[in-house]
Amino acid sequence: MFVILLLVTALAAVQCVEAAECDVPPSMWCSSPAVAKSCQVEESCERYLEKAAHAPAPPVSLTLYYESLCGGCQQFILEELWPTWSKLSPIMNLTLVPYGNAAEKKRFGKWVYECQHGKQECVGNLIETCTLNVLKNISAAFPFIHCIESKVEYSDNPKKAAEKCASMMQVDLSAIEKCADGSQGNALEHEMALKTGSLNPPHTYVPWVTLNGVHTEKIQHEAMNDLLKLICDTYQGDKPDACTPSKATVCARD
Ligand SMILES: *[C@@H]1O[C@H](CO)[C@@H](O)[C@H](O)[C@H]1NC(C)=O
Ligand SMILES: *[C@@H]1O[C@H](CO)[C@@H](O)[C@H](O)[C@H]1NC(C)=O
Repeated sequence: MFVILLLVTALAAVQCVEAAECDVPPSMWCSSPAVAKSCQVEESCERYLEKAAHAPAPPVSLTLYYESLCGGCQQFILEELWPTWSKLSPIMNLTLVPYGNAAEKKRFGKWVYECQHGKQECVGNLIETCTLNVLKNISAAFPFIHCIESKVEYSDNPKKAAEKCASMMQVDLSAIEKCADGSQGNALEHEMALKTGSLNPPHTYVPWVTLNGVHTEKIQHEAMNDLLKLICDTYQGDKPDACTPSKATVCARD
């Protein structure tokens, strides 16, 4: 009698533990293999879980608001953005917004721009804006823009820098120039002005970054100091190899 009572008590205890494990609402039963198991719905969740396991995580969206002749912007592009993007482009959704601290006003149906570092900066912003539009694909546009930004010896002449880069990289500059010289470029630059103007919080300096649409001083600081780490830490999927710091190699003594 006593033994049976003990057995019943033990069984009840086990059941209690099992019941306690599945303590999530039905909408969550398929949220992970462990939860599905505890709720005894493994079979029903199987297909859903399999799909979830294979769905790639979304890329990390990084948007850079900058202006073409700002030294800090060039430095960020050359020292952080380009090296990081070269390694992590498959998990990055990069957007460039070349406008920065410029101002615009409409005169006779056309936008007239005023740029922090003078007229040539407006030329640079426009060339880069048109590059993004003409080459469409950021994988094609960013190497060209990076090249223009790295030609600091032509910083007083972005058009010349673009010519040099175009011949080096076999980019068709004529389509980009046609855009930059016409009403299309004028309208596209206005879109950059609107994008920059809609920042919340509004930018107070450039380079200015948003990560998955968000700007904080912490994000900005991390982006400026170690963008690779920031992208790796933010990415929810399996980390690519570039996210694992390579082990220092040593030469062992025989
Ligand atoms: C990439 O970023 C842009 C701009 O932030 C956003 O509109 C777009 O939805 C993003 N695409 C993906 C695939 O995340
Ligand atoms: C984008 O450009 C890259 C580099 O030029 C190229 O490899 C890729 O196929 C292009 N992707 C699309 C969707 O055009």
